[in-house]
Amino acid sequence: MKIHIEEVNVEIVLPVRQAVLRSGKPREECFFEGDYAEETIHLALYKDEEVQAIATILKDKSEKLKSNNQFHLRGMAVIPEAQGKGLGKHLLLYAEDLIMQQSPTVLWFNARTSAVKFYQKNNFEVFGKEFDIPTVGPHFLMFKNYE
Ligand SMILES: CC(C)(COP(=O)(O)OP(=O)(O)OC[C@H]1O[C@@H](n2cnc3c(N)ncnc32)[C@H](O)[C@@H]1OP(=O)(O)O)[C@@H](O)C(=O)NCCC(=O)NCCS
Repeated sequence: MKIHIEEVNVEIVLPVRQAVLRSGKPREECFFEGDYAEETIHLALYKDEEVQAIATILKDKSEKLKSNNQFHLRGMAVIPEAQGKGLGKHLLLYAEDLIMQQSPTVLWFNARTSAVKFYQKNNFEVFGKEFDIPTVGPHFLMFKNYE
């Protein structure tokens, strides 16, 4: 099993983002604000030369969290055939290691309710109550403090 993770352009992560997180939506609706920002990092996990998992890290602050050097994880997804085999965890740990070089205070994201347990297993905490993101569904704000 050959796995490697690369920092890539948004165009590389977009097909998996569209298929897994924005199913049925047109490509132009799959972009995030900040996708092309200089400090944004798009990660692609390749297995056997195929992109099987993706994540994007934005330099973006949640107004609900107090600290200064916040990073925002978005668009975390594993292709359906490869879910539950450890790839998501592998990519998440890689993303955390990567931002450590920039002395983060917090990594946060809006987690789909269906994925909350995955993040809890990786030591992220829920903040506040469940809320709805229109057309996507129920979410919780989740975070990890590094201070
Ligand atoms: C959520 C997701 C990123 C997790 O990645 P994955 O590769 O499937 O998960 P892993 O195999 O690395 O799982 C790591 C651990 O979390 C658990 N886990 C994974 N997904 C879970 C889920 N949805 N609910 C509960 N536990 C889950 C696994 O059982 C495993 O537990 P273990 O360490 O005790 O064996 C992936 O399943 C996915 O893309 N799902 C659909 C899209 C999605 O919800 N993305 C997140 C948007 S916020």
